[in-house]
Amino acid sequence: MSDRFTEYPLDKVHRLFEPGPVVLVSTADEQGRANLMTNGFNMTVRHSSTIALVVGPWDHSFSALRATGECVIGLPGRDILETVVDIGNVSGADTDKWERFGLTPAPAATVRAPLVSECFANVECTVADDRLVGDYDLWLLRIEKAWIDPAAPAASEVHHRGDGTFSTNGDLIDLRRRMTKWEALTRD
Ligand SMILES: Cc1cc2nc3c(=O)[nH]c(=O)nc-3n(C[C@H](O)[C@H](O)[C@H](O)COP(=O)(O)O)c2cc1C
Repeated sequence: MSDRFTEYPLDKVHRLFEPGPVVLVSTADEQGRANLMTNGFNMTVRHSSTIALVVGPWDHSFSALRATGECVIGLPGRDILETVVDIGNVSGADTDKWERFGLTPAPAATVRAPLVSECFANVECTVADDRLVGDYDLWLLRIEKAWIDPAAPAASEVHHRGDGTFSTNGDLIDLRRRMTKWEALTRD
């Protein structure tokens, strides 16, 4: 595990995904070869346990995820956004993207896929349910462990607008006092 990270509570992991981040999916195939892909189709499904990701057979990463049932989801900030886009435009079938893009793998605690040291957060996952993969390329992932850089500014994630343009976050609007039914979600 990289010195950059401290453990992030599982019941807060939904906060990383609810804003709709563009993410990196890190896998390691059965021979231990690590790969990275870019992903914009992701969502929280259960607050502390489940994330959904679209990873299709057009991605080289698909076969490693299928074979090992494991991945790490890295959350990149603005500082590596150009690299994140380039990673989504190159295949791991013929390129070692870690090497090519100068990213640093760090050992995860529960899966063989590495953490991405340059991301501000990393979430270790295993496949919880693949029943929707055949029809929708949709993987339901169990959250095993999560890590965050405590020094990263809040709301560091970046958003893909679906057309090759991206946005960072604007004003933060604090409506925690209106979350009366969901007060537990607003606690630190
Ligand atoms: C901004 C962006 C978002 C993407 N989102 C997804 C996605 O949600 N699901 C997916 O299967 N591919 C997505 N891709 C495409 C993969 O990242 C791309 O196919 C990549 O080359 C896969 O790498 P691999 O073949 O080494 O696995 C996205 C690409 C970009 C640039």
